[in-house]
Amino acid sequence: RARQPIIAIDGPAGAGKSTVARQLAQQLGLLYLDTGAMYRAFTWYVLSQDCDPADEVAVAELLSKCTIKLTATPSEQTPQPPEVWVNETAVTQAIRTPEVTANVSTIAAQGAVRQALVKQQMQYGLAGGVVADGRDIGTHVFPNAELKIFLTASVEERARRRQRDLAHQGQAIPELADLAQAISERDHKDSTREISPLRQAEDAIEVITDQLTIEGVLDKLSALYQEKVVTAAED
Ligand code: CDP
Ligand code: CDP
Repeated sequence: RARQPIIAIDGPAGAGKSTVARQLAQQLGLLYLDTGAMYRAFTWYVLSQDCDPADEVAVAELLSKCTIKLTATPSEQTPQPPEVWVNETAVTQAIRTPEVTANVSTIAAQGAVRQALVKQQMQYGLAGGVVADGRDIGTHVFPNAELKIFLTASVEERARRRQRDLAHQGQAIPELADLAQAISERDHKDSTREISPLRQAEDAIEVITDQLTIEGVLDKLSALYQEKVVTAAED
């Protein structure tokens, strides 16, 4: 084949996209591209400049001042999330704060922002060999991806996972109902925006993860990769 395969993983917040995309990339020796981290990094930058996230003109002006870098898939046994840099600042942890999370969907809905970040994402995929996760990967960024997965789970299950994440990090644990509410609001913003909203691509395979462990999801995706990409290429 002319280029290495691309695997696109889309779905709502907390479905398990980044966890399984990262591990699948490592198993297959592909690059992991966390597009959500790019929207979060730019959101962090906008907030750090005291810019109003809803002011589209002011936000767009910041695009040319912000260089986002993601490190490639680390090679350790236990894959860590990629390091994220904005200009000269390491923001790997800073992009996960509640403040960034609360503002990212407002910024990710803006046309100029999406245009700039999608362009950069497409460049990562030029040679193929990428597992990318986000909201519009199969529909917009890599419409020719060899395998498209739509990963999802109920809002309740995704809120429980967030609670567990926060507990592991030793942070205050919000009420389940409040977390579910915040997740639903972000899902709503992401799926109703005008430009490349979150939706399942026609040729994507839906994987519902409520009853699956991370290993269970990985097994399923590996089997789909074998069936849809490896075996298909041999024919
Ligand atoms: O990990 P989590 O599900 O919380 O979110 P994320 O993947 O880090 O993405 C954060 C936000 O970035 C999403 O809620 C979307 O608003 C936006 N995003 C997007 O619009 N398009 C993408 N391809 C990826 C993320
Ligand atoms: O990237 P996305 O927001 O879709 O989800 P994530 O950050 O990969 O996963 C959210 C949390 O759910 C993490 O703590 C995962 O370990 C957990 N998870 C799980 O418990 N069971 C799964 N089948 C998938 C993820």
